[in-house]
Amino acid sequence: MALLEVRGLKTHFSTEDGTVRAVDGVSFHVDRGEVLGIVGESGSGKSVTSLSLLRLIPDPPGKIVGGEMLFESSPGKKEDLARATEARMQKVRGDRIAMIFQDPMTSLNPYLRVSEQLVEVLELHKKMARSEARKKAIEMLRAVGIPAPELRIDDHPHQLSGGMRQRVMIAMALLCEPDLLIADEPTTALDVTVQAQILELIQDRQKALGLGVILITHDLGVIAKMADRVAVMYAGRVVEEGPVDVIFDDPRHPYTIGLKSSIPRLDAGRGSSLVPIPGMPPSMARLPPGCPFHPRCGFAVARCKESYPEEREIPGPGGRHLVRCHVDDVTPAHAARAEAS
Ligand SMILES: Nc1ncnc2c1ncn2[C@@H]1O[C@H](COP(=O)(O)OP(=O)(O)OP(=O)(O)O)[C@@H](O)[C@H]1O
Ligand SMILES: [Mg+2]
Repeated sequence: MALLEVRGLKTHFSTEDGTVRAVDGVSFHVDRGEVLGIVGESGSGKSVTSLSLLRLIPDPPGKIVGGEMLFESSPGKKEDLARATEARMQKVRGDRIAMIFQDPMTSLNPYLRVSEQLVEVLELHKKMARSEARKKAIEMLRAVGIPAPELRIDDHPHQLSGGMRQRVMIAMALLCEPDLLIADEPTTALDVTVQAQILELIQDRQKALGLGVILITHDLGVIAKMADRVAVMYAGRVVEEGPVDVIFDDPRHPYTIGLKSSIPRLDAGRGSSLVPIPGMPPSMARLPPGCPFHPRCGFAVARCKESYPEEREIPGPGGRHLVRCHVDDVTPAHAARAEAS
Protein backbone atom coordinates (compact mmCIF):
# COMPACT_ATOMS: atom_id res chain seq x y z
CA MET A 1 0.00 0.00 0.00
CA ALA A 2 1.35 3.40 -0.94
CA LEU A 3 2.14 5.86 1.83
CA LEU A 4 0.36 8.54 -0.16
CA GLU A 5 -1.80 8.12 -3.22
CA VAL A 6 -3.06 11.20 -5.02
CA ARG A 7 -5.86 10.65 -7.51
CA GLY A 8 -7.24 13.28 -9.84
CA LEU A 9 -6.37 16.20 -7.58
CA LYS A 10 -7.76 19.53 -8.76
CA THR A 11 -6.92 22.85 -7.14
CA HIS A 12 -8.30 25.96 -8.79
CA PHE A 13 -8.04 29.68 -8.04
CA SER A 14 -10.71 32.29 -8.71
CA THR A 15 -9.02 35.34 -10.17
CA GLU A 16 -10.02 38.43 -12.14
CA ASP A 17 -8.85 36.61 -15.27
CA GLY A 18 -11.18 33.73 -14.58
CA THR A 19 -10.53 30.31 -13.07
CA VAL A 20 -6.84 29.40 -12.88
CA ARG A 21 -6.71 25.61 -13.12
CA ALA A 22 -3.34 25.38 -11.40
CA VAL A 23 -3.68 21.68 -10.63
CA ASP A 24 -6.13 19.93 -12.86
CA GLY A 25 -6.23 16.19 -12.34
CA VAL A 26 -2.88 15.25 -10.82
CA SER A 27 -2.28 11.61 -9.90
CA PHE A 28 0.81 10.00 -8.39
CA HIS A 29 1.87 7.92 -5.42
CA VAL A 30 4.78 7.77 -2.99
CA ASP A 31 5.86 4.69 -1.08
CA ARG A 32 7.63 4.53 2.25
CA GLY A 33 11.39 4.85 1.96
CA GLU A 34 11.12 6.21 -1.56
CA VAL A 35 11.99 9.56 -3.14
CA LEU A 36 9.52 10.76 -5.76
CA GLY A 37 10.93 13.64 -7.79
CA ILE A 38 8.49 16.14 -9.28
CA VAL A 39 9.80 18.24 -12.16
CA GLY A 40 8.31 20.70 -14.59
CA GLU A 41 8.66 24.26 -15.80
CA SER A 42 7.76 27.23 -13.66
CA GLY A 43 4.01 27.50 -13.21
CA SER A 44 3.27 23.82 -13.92
CA GLY A 45 1.61 23.41 -10.51
CA LYS A 46 4.31 21.76 -8.42
CA SER A 47 4.03 24.06 -5.42
CA VAL A 48 0.25 24.20 -5.58
CA THR A 49 0.25 20.39 -5.52
CA SER A 50 2.47 20.25 -2.44
CA LEU A 51 0.55 22.97 -0.61
CA SER A 52 -2.68 21.15 -1.44
CA LEU A 53 -1.35 18.00 0.22
CA LEU A 54 -1.05 19.89 3.48
CA ARG A 55 -4.22 21.86 2.79
CA LEU A 56 -2.30 25.12 2.92
CA ILE A 57 -3.86 26.68 -0.17
CA PRO A 58 -5.11 30.19 0.63
CA ASP A 59 -8.93 30.09 0.41
CA PRO A 60 -10.01 32.42 -1.13
CA PRO A 61 -8.82 32.54 -3.88
CA GLY A 62 -7.90 28.82 -3.98
CA LYS A 63 -9.88 25.65 -3.46
CA ILE A 64 -9.36 21.93 -3.81
CA VAL A 65 -12.26 21.16 -6.11
CA GLY A 66 -11.71 17.50 -6.84
CA GLY A 67 -9.77 14.34 -6.26
CA GLU A 68 -8.45 12.34 -3.37
CA MET A 69 -5.24 12.40 -1.34
CA LEU A 70 -5.15 9.04 0.38
CA PHE A 71 -2.62 8.97 3.18
CA GLU A 72 -1.74 5.83 5.10
CA SER A 73 -2.16 7.32 8.54
CA SER A 74 -1.59 4.00 10.31
CA PRO A 75 -0.67 0.60 8.86
CA GLY A 76 -3.41 -0.53 6.52
CA LYS A 77 -5.61 2.49 7.17
CA LYS A 78 -6.21 5.18 4.55
CA GLU A 79 -7.36 8.66 5.25
CA ASP A 80 -8.41 11.16 2.57
CA LEU A 81 -6.62 14.39 3.39
CA ALA A 82 -8.87 16.25 0.95
CA ARG A 83 -11.71 15.60 3.34
CA ALA A 84 -9.96 15.73 6.73
CA THR A 85 -11.06 18.35 9.25
CA GLU A 86 -8.81 21.33 9.97
CA ALA A 87 -8.20 19.98 13.48
CA ARG A 88 -6.99 16.70 12.00
CA MET A 89 -4.80 18.53 9.47
CA GLN A 90 -3.10 20.44 12.27
CA LYS A 91 -2.11 17.12 13.73
CA VAL A 92 -0.97 15.74 10.36
CA ARG A 93 1.17 18.78 9.55
CA GLY A 94 4.48 18.59 11.29
CA ASP A 95 3.62 15.35 12.99
CA ARG A 96 3.07 12.97 10.03
CA ILE A 97 3.84 15.09 6.99
CA ALA A 98 6.54 17.74 7.15
CA MET A 99 7.44 20.32 4.56
CA ILE A 100 10.60 22.21 3.81
CA PHE A 101 10.71 25.22 1.54
CA GLN A 102 13.26 27.05 -0.53
CA ASP A 103 13.26 29.93 1.93
CA PRO A 104 13.84 28.74 5.51
CA MET A 105 12.33 31.94 6.85
CA THR A 106 8.94 30.65 5.63
CA SER A 107 9.09 28.13 8.48
CA LEU A 108 11.32 29.86 11.03
CA ASN A 109 10.17 32.70 13.24
CA PRO A 110 12.84 35.43 13.16
CA TYR A 111 11.91 36.63 16.65
CA LEU A 112 12.34 33.34 18.46
CA ARG A 113 15.49 31.48 19.35
CA VAL A 114 16.01 28.18 17.53
CA SER A 115 15.56 26.40 20.87
CA GLU A 116 12.15 27.93 21.45
CA GLN A 117 10.95 26.90 18.00
CA LEU A 118 12.22 23.33 18.12
CA VAL A 119 11.17 22.69 21.71
CA GLU A 120 7.71 24.05 21.01
CA VAL A 121 7.22 21.57 18.16
CA LEU A 122 8.03 18.66 20.48
CA GLU A 123 5.92 19.97 23.33
CA LEU A 124 2.99 20.46 21.00
CA HIS A 125 3.17 17.31 18.88
CA LYS A 126 4.91 14.86 21.17
CA LYS A 127 3.79 16.22 24.54
CA MET A 128 7.40 16.10 25.70
CA ALA A 129 8.63 17.80 28.85
CA ARG A 130 10.77 20.87 28.18
CA SER A 131 14.13 19.46 29.28
CA GLU A 132 13.64 16.25 27.33
CA ALA A 133 12.54 18.23 24.28
CA ARG A 134 15.65 20.40 24.47
CA LYS A 135 17.85 17.34 24.59
CA LYS A 136 16.14 15.82 21.59
CA ALA A 137 16.33 19.12 19.68
CA ILE A 138 20.10 19.31 20.27
CA GLU A 139 20.46 15.73 19.04
CA MET A 140 18.56 16.57 15.89
CA LEU A 141 20.66 19.68 15.24
CA ARG A 142 23.73 17.50 15.57
CA ALA A 143 22.23 14.96 13.16
CA VAL A 144 21.73 17.67 10.51
CA GLY A 145 25.37 18.72 10.82
CA ILE A 146 25.23 21.84 12.96
CA PRO A 147 28.50 22.21 14.87
CA ALA A 148 28.30 22.87 18.63
CA PRO A 149 24.50 22.47 18.63
CA GLU A 150 24.27 22.97 22.41
CA LEU A 151 25.43 26.56 21.81
CA ARG A 152 23.79 27.29 18.47
CA ILE A 153 20.40 26.21 19.71
CA ASP A 154 20.10 29.49 21.60
CA ASP A 155 20.82 31.61 18.52
CA HIS A 156 18.16 33.55 16.68
CA PRO A 157 17.76 32.53 13.01
CA HIS A 158 19.46 35.73 11.77
CA GLN A 159 22.64 34.77 13.64
CA LEU A 160 22.97 31.70 11.42
CA SER A 161 24.22 31.46 7.84
CA GLY A 162 21.80 30.52 5.05
CA GLY A 163 23.03 26.93 5.00
CA MET A 164 22.71 26.62 8.77
CA ARG A 165 19.19 28.05 8.69
CA GLN A 166 18.26 25.51 6.04
CA ARG A 167 19.60 22.79 8.33
CA VAL A 168 17.58 24.11 11.25
CA MET A 169 14.47 24.01 9.08
CA ILE A 170 15.22 20.43 8.11
CA ALA A 171 15.84 19.55 11.76
CA MET A 172 12.48 21.08 12.60
CA ALA A 173 10.78 19.15 9.80
CA LEU A 174 12.29 15.84 10.93
CA LEU A 175 11.94 16.36 14.65
CA CYS A 176 8.62 14.57 14.97
CA GLU A 177 9.75 11.70 12.77
CA PRO A 178 7.22 12.29 10.03
CA ASP A 179 6.24 9.57 7.54
CA LEU A 180 6.39 11.90 4.57
CA LEU A 181 8.66 14.83 3.82
CA ILE A 182 7.74 17.31 1.11
CA ALA A 183 10.75 19.33 -0.04
CA ASP A 184 9.91 22.16 -2.46
CA GLU A 185 13.11 23.48 -4.05
CA PRO A 186 14.96 22.90 -0.78
CA THR A 187 18.41 23.88 -2.00
CA THR A 188 17.97 26.32 -4.87
CA ALA A 189 19.08 29.30 -2.76
CA LEU A 190 22.23 27.59 -1.52
CA ASP A 191 25.72 27.35 -2.95
CA VAL A 192 26.69 24.08 -4.56
CA THR A 193 28.67 22.62 -1.65
CA VAL A 194 25.99 23.34 0.93
CA GLN A 195 23.38 22.10 -1.54
CA ALA A 196 25.15 18.74 -1.79
CA GLN A 197 25.40 18.48 2.00
CA ILE A 198 21.72 19.24 2.50
CA LEU A 199 20.67 16.69 -0.10
CA GLU A 200 22.88 14.07 1.46
CA LEU A 201 21.31 14.84 4.77
CA ILE A 202 17.80 14.35 3.43
CA GLN A 203 18.87 11.11 1.79
CA ASP A 204 20.51 9.93 4.98
CA ARG A 205 17.37 10.59 7.03
CA GLN A 206 15.23 9.04 4.32
CA LYS A 207 17.25 5.83 4.49
CA ALA A 208 17.57 5.82 8.29
CA LEU A 209 13.88 6.46 8.97
CA GLY A 210 12.25 4.89 5.91
CA LEU A 211 10.77 8.28 5.16
CA GLY A 212 8.80 8.86 1.98
CA VAL A 213 10.02 12.01 0.23
CA ILE A 214 8.47 14.22 -2.43
CA LEU A 215 11.30 16.27 -3.89
CA ILE A 216 10.35 19.18 -6.10
CA THR A 217 13.11 20.79 -8.10
CA HIS A 218 14.00 22.34 -11.44
CA ASP A 219 17.35 20.67 -11.24
CA LEU A 220 17.41 17.40 -13.15
CA GLY A 221 20.91 16.75 -11.79
CA VAL A 222 19.46 16.66 -8.28
CA ILE A 223 16.68 14.37 -9.47
CA ALA A 224 19.17 11.99 -11.08
CA LYS A 225 21.04 11.73 -7.81
CA MET A 226 18.16 11.54 -5.37
CA ALA A 227 14.96 10.22 -6.91
CA ASP A 228 13.73 6.66 -7.28
CA ARG A 229 10.82 7.67 -9.46
CA VAL A 230 9.96 10.87 -11.29
CA ALA A 231 6.68 12.58 -12.12
CA VAL A 232 6.86 15.21 -14.86
CA MET A 233 4.25 17.96 -14.60
CA TYR A 234 2.95 20.16 -17.37
CA ALA A 235 0.06 22.61 -17.07
CA GLY A 236 -1.34 21.17 -13.86
CA ARG A 237 -1.08 17.46 -14.70
CA VAL A 238 1.42 14.66 -14.52
CA VAL A 239 2.25 13.93 -18.17
CA GLU A 240 4.83 11.22 -17.61
CA GLU A 241 5.85 9.11 -14.65
CA GLY A 242 8.28 6.30 -14.14
CA PRO A 243 11.50 5.04 -12.55
CA VAL A 244 14.25 7.65 -12.71
CA ASP A 245 16.41 5.67 -15.18
CA VAL A 246 13.50 5.17 -17.53
CA ILE A 247 12.56 8.87 -17.45
CA PHE A 248 16.16 9.86 -18.21
CA ASP A 249 17.01 7.17 -20.75
CA ASP A 250 13.73 6.45 -22.46
CA PRO A 251 11.29 9.35 -22.01
CA ARG A 252 8.17 9.06 -24.18
CA HIS A 253 6.48 12.40 -23.71
CA PRO A 254 7.67 15.14 -26.07
CA TYR A 255 7.67 17.55 -23.12
CA THR A 256 9.97 15.34 -21.04
CA ILE A 257 12.30 14.97 -24.01
CA GLY A 258 12.31 18.77 -24.41
CA LEU A 259 12.88 19.34 -20.72
CA LYS A 260 15.82 16.99 -20.75
CA SER A 261 17.53 18.71 -23.64
CA SER A 262 16.77 22.18 -22.29
CA ILE A 263 19.08 21.78 -19.29
CA PRO A 264 22.84 21.68 -19.29
CA ARG A 265 24.18 18.19 -18.86
CA LEU A 266 26.06 17.58 -15.68
CA ASP A 267 29.08 16.39 -17.58
CA ALA A 268 28.91 19.09 -20.26
CA GLY A 269 31.43 21.89 -20.15
CA ARG A 270 30.55 25.54 -19.80
CA GLY A 271 29.03 27.15 -22.81
CA SER A 272 27.57 23.91 -24.13
CA SER A 273 24.49 24.84 -26.08
CA LEU A 274 21.03 24.45 -24.64
CA VAL A 275 17.95 23.78 -26.66
CA PRO A 276 15.07 25.51 -24.92
CA ILE A 277 11.60 24.09 -25.46
CA PRO A 278 10.07 26.41 -28.04
CA GLY A 279 7.15 28.60 -26.94
CA MET A 280 5.87 29.46 -23.50
CA PRO A 281 3.91 27.48 -20.95
CA PRO A 282 0.20 28.24 -21.41
CA SER A 283 -1.79 30.56 -19.18
CA MET A 284 -3.49 28.36 -16.63
CA ALA A 285 -6.61 30.48 -16.95
CA ARG A 286 -6.80 29.86 -20.71
CA LEU A 287 -5.57 26.39 -21.45
CA PRO A 288 -5.71 25.38 -25.10
CA PRO A 289 -8.18 22.57 -25.89
CA GLY A 290 -6.93 19.01 -26.10
CA CYS A 291 -3.41 18.36 -24.87
CA PRO A 292 -2.16 21.69 -23.48
CA PHE A 293 1.34 20.97 -24.83
CA HIS A 294 0.22 20.68 -28.47
CA PRO A 295 1.04 24.29 -29.52
CA ARG A 296 4.68 23.66 -28.56
CA CYS A 297 4.93 20.07 -29.69
CA GLY A 298 6.81 18.88 -32.76
CA PHE A 299 4.87 15.60 -32.77
CA ALA A 300 1.35 17.04 -32.56
CA VAL A 301 -1.35 15.53 -34.78
CA ALA A 302 -4.97 16.58 -35.25
CA ARG A 303 -6.19 14.54 -32.28
CA CYS A 304 -3.91 16.46 -29.91
CA LYS A 305 -6.00 19.60 -30.43
CA GLU A 306 -9.21 17.77 -29.66
CA SER A 307 -8.91 15.65 -26.56
CA TYR A 308 -6.72 15.28 -23.51
CA PRO A 309 -4.76 12.02 -23.84
CA GLU A 310 -5.62 9.12 -21.57
CA GLU A 311 -2.87 7.60 -19.47
CA ARG A 312 -0.95 4.90 -21.31
CA GLU A 313 1.46 2.35 -19.88
CA ILE A 314 4.74 1.81 -21.73
CA PRO A 315 5.81 -1.81 -21.34
CA GLY A 316 9.39 -2.32 -20.22
CA PRO A 317 11.54 -4.10 -17.68
CA GLY A 318 12.29 -1.01 -15.59
CA GLY A 319 9.01 -0.67 -13.64
CA ARG A 320 5.69 1.07 -14.23
CA HIS A 321 6.07 3.80 -16.87
CA LEU A 322 3.05 5.99 -17.65
CA VAL A 323 2.62 8.65 -20.27
CA ARG A 324 -0.20 10.91 -21.39
CA CYS A 325 0.40 11.46 -25.09
CA HIS A 326 -1.70 10.58 -28.14
CA VAL A 327 1.32 9.89 -30.31
CA ASP A 328 2.65 6.45 -29.58
CA ASP A 329 5.93 6.47 -31.48
CA VAL A 330 7.59 9.32 -29.57
CA THR A 331 11.13 8.37 -28.57
CA PRO A 332 14.26 10.42 -27.86
CA ALA A 333 15.88 9.11 -31.07
CA HIS A 334 12.83 10.05 -33.11
CA ALA A 335 12.88 13.56 -31.57
CA ALA A 336 16.58 14.00 -32.37
CA ARG A 337 16.00 12.96 -36.01
CA ALA A 338 13.06 15.37 -36.29
CA GLU A 339 15.22 18.18 -34.93
CA ALA A 340 18.13 17.43 -37.27
CA SER A 341 15.96 17.43 -40.39
N1 LIG B 1 -2.73 32.42 -4.90
C1 LIG B 1 -2.82 32.22 -6.22
N2 LIG B 1 -3.74 32.88 -6.96
C2 LIG B 1 -3.85 32.68 -8.28
N3 LIG B 1 -3.08 31.83 -8.98
C3 LIG B 1 -2.15 31.16 -8.31
C4 LIG B 1 -1.95 31.31 -6.90
N4 LIG B 1 -0.95 30.49 -6.50
C5 LIG B 1 -0.52 29.87 -7.62
N5 LIG B 1 -1.22 30.27 -8.70
C6 LIG B 1 -1.04 29.81 -10.09
O1 LIG B 1 -0.97 28.42 -10.12
C7 LIG B 1 -0.10 27.99 -11.16
C8 LIG B 1 0.88 26.98 -10.61
O2 LIG B 1 1.77 27.63 -9.71
P1 LIG B 1 2.86 26.86 -8.86
O3 LIG B 1 3.37 27.83 -7.86
O4 LIG B 1 2.31 25.59 -8.35
O5 LIG B 1 3.95 26.56 -9.96
P2 LIG B 1 5.35 25.79 -9.76
O6 LIG B 1 5.29 24.60 -10.67
O7 LIG B 1 5.59 25.55 -8.32
O8 LIG B 1 6.36 26.85 -10.36
P3 LIG B 1 7.86 27.22 -9.89
O9 LIG B 1 8.72 26.20 -10.55
O10 LIG B 1 8.08 28.58 -10.44
O11 LIG B 1 7.92 27.17 -8.39
C9 LIG B 1 0.55 29.25 -11.72
O12 LIG B 1 -0.10 29.58 -12.93
C10 LIG B 1 0.29 30.28 -10.66
O13 LIG B 1 0.18 31.56 -11.22
MG1 LIG C 1 7.02 26.26 -6.97
